[in-house]
Amino acid sequence: MKFFLDTAHMPDIRKAAAVGVADGVTTNPTLVAKEKRDFPTLVGEICSVVDGPVSAEVTADDVEGMVREGRALASIAANVVIKVPFGQVGLQAVRALEREKIHTNVTLVFSPLQALLAARAGASYISPFIGRLDDVGHRGMEVVEQTLEILSNYDLHAQVIVASVRHPLHVLEAALIGAPIVTVPPSVLWKLFDHPLTEAGIARFKADWSGLQETLR
Ligand code: G3P
Repeated sequence: MKFFLDTAHMPDIRKAAAVGVADGVTTNPTLVAKEKRDFPTLVGEICSVVDGPVSAEVTADDVEGMVREGRALASIAANVVIKVPFGQVGLQAVRALEREKIHTNVTLVFSPLQALLAARAGASYISPFIGRLDDVGHRGMEVVEQTLEILSNYDLHAQVIVASVRHPLHVLEAALIGAPIVTVPPSVLWKLFDHPLTEAGIARFKADWSGLQETLR
């Protein structure tokens, strides 16, 4: 399973890239707004640090506008993927962009049938939002499970990005059902490294090692 970082915050992206756990990055208008920076410059900076797919979202309401924004963002770097909100308008933009060999990521997907429609439109990536589904009392991961089954039934090649991840259990569940990609907020990514027994173990090894140095002195 690949780990994408769900953030537009450069310090976290640089840190994850240094640790080797930034296979890609996903952003959205909310995450970008937090950075208070020029969007194209920020996308360029992310792409200079991460070699994998970097999703940048269009905000226009019409097909022509989405395609225009998509082309402009895609011209920033070869690994830019255009994030397009699901819908009748969005899927038309996806078809147009993919015809031009510009990769797309259909976002705000909340059902397996929306995912099927996005895959049929030729999307390269599909992002079901599991945390937001859990928030309203649905089982988000079921959408991922059913989407993976449907895509495999019809040999559709869109890759599922498990998105709206809120905690490490979401990551575990995604891995157990074989999701190809999970996009995680930095706060969740860093938690995956933590285990009290690992920390206690390191402290014990250190203490025993300095004890030995003392003895040999
Ligand atoms: O990439 C967008 C998605 O992951 C949003 O997550 O936490 O705002 O539901 P959240």
